[in-house]
Amino acid sequence: MKAMICRELDEQARLKLQDVPPPDLEPGGVRVAVAAAGLNFADTLMLAGRYQERQQPPFAPGMEVAGRVVETGAGVTGLKPGDRVMAAVGAGGYAEQVIAAAADVIPIPDEMDFVTAAGFPIAYGTSHHALTARAGLKAGEVLLVHGAAGGVGLTAVEIGHALGATVIATAGSAEKLAVAQAHGADHLINYRDEDVKAKVRAFTAGRGVDVVYDPVGGELFETSLRCTAPEGRLLVIGFACGEVPQIPANLLLVKNLTVIGYYWGAYRRSHADELRAGFQELLGWYREGRIKPKISATFPLEGANEGLDLLRRRGSTGKVVLKIDQNL
Ligand SMILES: NC(=O)c1ccc[n+]([C@@H]2O[C@H](COP(=O)([O-])OP(=O)(O)OC[C@H]3O[C@@H](n4cnc5c(N)ncnc54)[C@H](OP(=O)(O)O)[C@@H]3O)[C@@H](O)[C@H]2O)c1
Repeated sequence: MKAMICRELDEQARLKLQDVPPPDLEPGGVRVAVAAAGLNFADTLMLAGRYQERQQPPFAPGMEVAGRVVETGAGVTGLKPGDRVMAAVGAGGYAEQVIAAAADVIPIPDEMDFVTAAGFPIAYGTSHHALTARAGLKAGEVLLVHGAAGGVGLTAVEIGHALGATVIATAGSAEKLAVAQAHGADHLINYRDEDVKAKVRAFTAGRGVDVVYDPVGGELFETSLRCTAPEGRLLVIGFACGEVPQIPANLLLVKNLTVIGYYWGAYRRSHADELRAGFQELLGWYREGRIKPKISATFPLEGANEGLDLLRRRGSTGKVVLKIDQNL
C-alpha cells in the first residue's frame, strides 16, 4: 500500500510517498481502507519529536481517518466489511490502509461524505467532551474560545453555541474571526492588535467569562485568568503558540478558579462509552444542521507535506484533509 512516511524527526520533517506492507490486523482491530485522513497540528508536533505520544521513524503520521471497513479482527462485533466509518488512530492515517481499535470506530451517517468525516473525530470529540464532561458548560454561560478559527477552536465555538452559551472568539486576523462568527461566535477579538482583557470585560459588563477553551497557550493563558469570572473554569487544550504557560496560583485562589487539563487521547480508553455517547449527540446535531464542519483545504496523499506546512504557518481555518481514495 502507499503511505506518506517520516524517516527522520524534524521541525520541518518531509514525508516521502512509499510502498509499504499493510499493517497487521490484531484481535479487537478493524482494517479500514482510507478514503480521507484528517491533518492535525499535533501531527507537526509528533514529526518534530515534541508530542506526548512518541513514534520512532519510519512511520506514517495521521491520527484520524474515514473510509470503509475491509476486515475485522477476533472479538469485534457490530462492524462488517463495507461499512462506512470514521476512526481515531494513534498514527498511520496518511496511508491507504490503517488498523483502528474497534472502540475508536464510529459509523458515518449516510449524509456525511468521507472528507468531512475524516476531520470530525478529534476536533469535535475533544471540544464536546472537554466542554460538557470536564468544564460543565451550561446554557446562559459565557465561553471564551482562543484560536477560534482553528481545527479544535472552531468546533468549540459551534458546540458552545449549540449548548446555549454566549461565545466570545479570539483569532489572529479579521478573516479568521469572520469564520468564527459564521459558525456561531457572538463576539470577536483580534488578539494580534486588540486588548483581550478589556474587550472581554466590555462584552460581559465587567463580569468576565465562565469557561475558557485554550488551544493556544503562552501569555494568552495568563490573560485568560485575568478575564475569568469568579468560579470560572479554564480548559488547557494545547499550546499551538509553542509556549507552555506557567500558572500564578494566587489568581486561582482569589477568584476560586479551576484550571482543567484536558487530553482527549487518554479518555479514548478510560471513557470510551462516554465519548461514544458524545459522538451520537454530535452526529445528531450534524444531521439537524446545528454544526457545520469546515474543511478549508484538501490535498492528495502525496501533498501531505503541503498540508502540514499550511498548519505550521497558520494558513488554514477549520480542518485540512488528505483525499486518499475517492472511489471507496
Ligand atoms: N488536548 C487535546 O486532547 C487536544 C486535541 C486536539 C488538539 N489539541 C491541541 O490543540 C492545538 C490546536 O490544534 P489544531 O489541530 O486545532 O490546530 P490548528 O487547526 O492548526 O489551529 C491552531 C490555531 O492556533 C492559533 N495559533 C496561535 N499561535 C500559533 C502558532 N504559533 N502556530 C500555529 N497556530 C497558532 C492559530 O490561530 P490564529 O492564527 O488565529 O492565531 C490556529 O488557528 C494543538 O496544540 C493541539 O495539539 C489538543
